[in-house]
Amino acid sequence: MDRFTYQYPVRQHFGKGCAESAIKEEMNRIAGNNVLLAYGGGSLKRTGMYDKIVGWLHECGKTVTDFGGIMPNPTYAKVQEGAKMVREQGIDFILAVGGGSVIDCCKIVSAQAKLDEDIWEMQYAKHQYPTEFVPMGAVVTASGTGAEQNNGAVITHEEKKLKQPLLGAYHTFAVLDSDLTRTLPMKQVISGAFDTLSHCMETYMGRPQATNLSDEINESVMQSVIKNLRALIANPDDDFARGELMWASAMAENGLLKLGKQTDFQCHMLEHAVGAYTDCNHGQGLAVIHPILYRHLLSEGKEKLARMAQEVWKVKGDTTEQTASLGVEALAGFIREIGLPTRWSEMGITDETVLRAAADTCFLMPGCCKQFTRDELYEVLREGM
Ligand code: NZQ
Ligand code: ZN
Repeated sequence: MDRFTYQYPVRQHFGKGCAESAIKEEMNRIAGNNVLLAYGGGSLKRTGMYDKIVGWLHECGKTVTDFGGIMPNPTYAKVQEGAKMVREQGIDFILAVGGGSVIDCCKIVSAQAKLDEDIWEMQYAKHQYPTEFVPMGAVVTASGTGAEQNNGAVITHEEKKLKQPLLGAYHTFAVLDSDLTRTLPMKQVISGAFDTLSHCMETYMGRPQATNLSDEINESVMQSVIKNLRALIANPDDDFARGELMWASAMAENGLLKLGKQTDFQCHMLEHAVGAYTDCNHGQGLAVIHPILYRHLLSEGKEKLARMAQEVWKVKGDTTEQTASLGVEALAGFIREIGLPTRWSEMGITDETVLRAAADTCFLMPGCCKQFTRDELYEVLREGM
């Protein structure tokens, strides 16, 4: 195992029906009364959760300022809007209620509100990172990204045509109540769960290839995601499976599986780059890329792919190469089984120039077992046409 230092700052409240008590407990703990309530494009009000949460905040003596309309794949402009609001309204605490998009947007709002300079330029031109934040917490309504667990946020800079990670605040707490995800359309549940599986695979495939304890825990998490997603698709009222998927999402991003490893995340960087041009759904884009990318890793990544094939997909061939290949095809079969797209055209993406631009702008990941050229990455994306 590689060296590591591990410290974890996020307090976790997990459990079906825990939202009310967890939110009240946390609100009674924070300093200041001026809370920014951040949410997405409408689901929170439609489901009735907005009124409930505002009521709980009022019971705790908080004044609520609304920051709604955070879109899937949050934009840099939306971050700036939120940061301006935090400054002008003298916000003491940001409560992000939503999926990865709301949670990510708030992580950067929290940092930008404390900065005079532009956070994108600060991180990408100067390679400097924020140190001061408006405190914040997350209530998860769509699990899968694990965004509530880390301080990385994926933001789309529309003018620059880039969708890239920025470092922002950690949440002081995360509320993981599976009841809040019951209204999420099954299509998004599947896309989110596949995102979790992808985070696991991208971590597992990272350097060094030798299997360590983090990888062995990871194998269990991957099997759990596959099993519980199948169970939830078969029975959307299966609250146990829903809760298991929620905690698996957290486990994939709370750092534990990454200890002693340099992660891969080449598939993610490709998907984000396509997302910058198409605003596509994250989990769906990953589903198109993953099997193709892994077919391109059958040589350099064969040992680890073969182990994943046996431990996770329970398939075995006569040779390491064969086993690795059977595992990749089992993954492709699972993607078809759960109804995720396997081609860009199924997602309305038909323009090859977009794929070329994505391959030309995405990050090349040092943790990947193969150092791809941009032409090879374009070939990976093109094979998804
Ligand atoms: O906007 P509203 O109306 O709320 O609707 C949302 C949105 O349309 C809806 N939704 C959320 N909770 C719901 C609900 N609908 C009904 N009932 C509920 N309880 O779901 C839709 C998708 O929400 P979104 O937050 O966009 O999805 P997700 O959680 O998949 O987040 C995707 C974003 O996270 C980034 C992705 O790139 C993408 O921008 N990621 C962030 C990561 C991180 N910070 O660690 C890691 C990931 O790899 C990922 O890149
Ligand atoms: Zn992801």
